Amino acid sequence: TALALGLDAPFEVEYHETIDSTNRRARELAESGATDTVIVADAQTAGRGRLDRSWESPPGGVYVSILCRPDRPPAEAPLYTLAGAVATTHAVRETGLDARIKWPNDVLLVDDDSENKIAGILTEMQGETDRIAWLAVGIGVNMDDPGIEGATGLRAALDDHVPLRTFVHHLLESFDALRKQESESILARWREAAATLGQHVRVETPDGVVVGRAVDVEPPGALVVETDDETVSLHAGDCEHLRCA
Ligand code: BTN
Repeated sequence: TALALGLDAPFEVEYHETIDSTNRRARELAESGATDTVIVADAQTAGRGRLDRSWESPPGGVYVSILCRPDRPPAEAPLYTLAGAVATTHAVRETGLDARIKWPNDVLLVDDDSENKIAGILTEMQGETDRIAWLAVGIGVNMDDPGIEGATGLRAALDDHVPLRTFVHHLLESFDALRKQESESILARWREAAATLGQHVRVETPDGVVVGRAVDVEPPGALVVETDDETVSLHAGDCEHLRCA
């Protein structure tokens, strides 16, 4: 496919027509000492999603895992997930569509009256005491509409040919630029691309449900929510944007 040929990227590229999971492969490569490698597949048979979900990965989508070894403490790993979401947003915008991020890492395609998920990010990592040993940012982008409520595909939305190689190239260039930035500047780019800030949200966290207004994101990627009686920082959870009546 087009992806296999001459992808010009600031990483080593390993291409698979079909693989079980690019994140699984990234871990394998990491354990054999590799770094700065991107695993790209045209289809996955066992794509992994967040929260132990699976990720439908039919042929023709974009399935990418970026393996790197950032010289930062393990607590900063979430920044790379944010960077993956920002980079995906940039690549979608290059096609002329509008994309925004729903905290923490869903990329939504946005038009006047709807927001639908087109991409998700799953980061896996191995930490040492004071630094990240390796980290793999896995990015899945729906090209065709997966037929799930609240989701859509880029090709379906564009009604046109999406040059996959160009799309992946933009994504990797943007990620490469972001990973070299200070954490505050990655957060600043995330804020610019966010759909969640300023919204009324309902977040299911491991400790219960929080409802309030999302006001900010703070290091290393926590969502700050003002509820009726307090301000809380959420480090993990599933977020829903509430429409006001
Ligand atoms: C989510 O649940 O929103 C995250 C989905 C992440 C899917 C991508 S596809 C490429 C990489 N390999 C995997 O097995 N998962 C990630």
